[in-house]
Amino acid sequence: MCADPRPTALVTGGARGIGRGIATVLARRGDHVVVADLQDELAATTAAELRDAGLSASSVAIDVSDVEAAAAVLAAIDAETPLTTVVNNAALAFSAPIGEVTPAAYDRLMDVNVRGTFFLVQAALRAMVPRGTGSVVNVCSTSSFTASTTDMTVYDTSKAAVRMITQAAAKEVARSGVRVNGVAPGTLETELTRPLLTQEGFASLAESKIPVGRLGRPEEIGDAVAFLSSDAASYVTGHVLVVDGGWLA
Ligand SMILES: NC(=O)c1ccc[n+]([C@@H]2O[C@H](COP(=O)([O-])OP(=O)(O)OC[C@H]3O[C@@H](n4cnc5c(N)ncnc54)[C@H](O)[C@@H]3O)[C@@H](O)[C@H]2O)c1
Repeated sequence: MCADPRPTALVTGGARGIGRGIATVLARRGDHVVVADLQDELAATTAAELRDAGLSASSVAIDVSDVEAAAAVLAAIDAETPLTTVVNNAALAFSAPIGEVTPAAYDRLMDVNVRGTFFLVQAALRAMVPRGTGSVVNVCSTSSFTASTTDMTVYDTSKAAVRMITQAAAKEVARSGVRVNGVAPGTLETELTRPLLTQEGFASLAESKIPVGRLGRPEEIGDAVAFLSSDAASYVTGHVLVVDGGWLA
């Protein structure tokens, strides 16, 4: 049994970008946050920075595309401190004209974004459903709802799948007390989007198309995750909360 009654959240891809923003907000609300990332040194640095800010955080190396190993990482953490929130945020993206997409590039992206998410949702539910409590939040995208305009058919396909994993899993376990939701960011400047945003004119085009007139900030996605994984959202499951400055409106 857990010695520390503090809620515990695991955030994949938590070392940087949106995942780091989510980890920061969840730690500020009082969770112990496990920053889980392929980049284990960066994850350790992020966790150390959270601790330096007086928050509770640790880190773990994880490759969500190695689905059995990733599930074992989650189960080991859960055995020590029962997870109350699991955030599936790790993902890859690339832009390429559809005619140039190779099977290898397609498979790599799907292995991380779809297969990786599916099997970590499974691992989280295996831990949480018997307890009858807990919350899973999957990071989707506005691309889960509408196609990008930047040659991202594979990414868009993966994010539509993550939305459906969220909705279908939520229905399947709804009576257990465990909730599964998603958050759909619009456009934020991170390492993932920097190659696009540095293309001449793209950032100003994006900003001009976003009704609130600016890109999003990682902690604004964290605030949505914090709501969905809190008791304030006790009747919310199977929902994907769009946080996009009005883009999809
Ligand atoms: N940035 C945006 O504008 C935007 C918009 C919509 C949705 N999203 C989604 O938000 C999430 C985070 O995006 P970001 O912009 O912060 O990206 P990012 O590239 O800055 O960060 C992704 C993190 O995931 C980690 N990661 C990658 N592959 C992994 C793997 N196999 N196992 C474990 N960790 C892995 C990386 O090391 C990195 O720390 C993604 O799901 C992305 O699709 C981003």
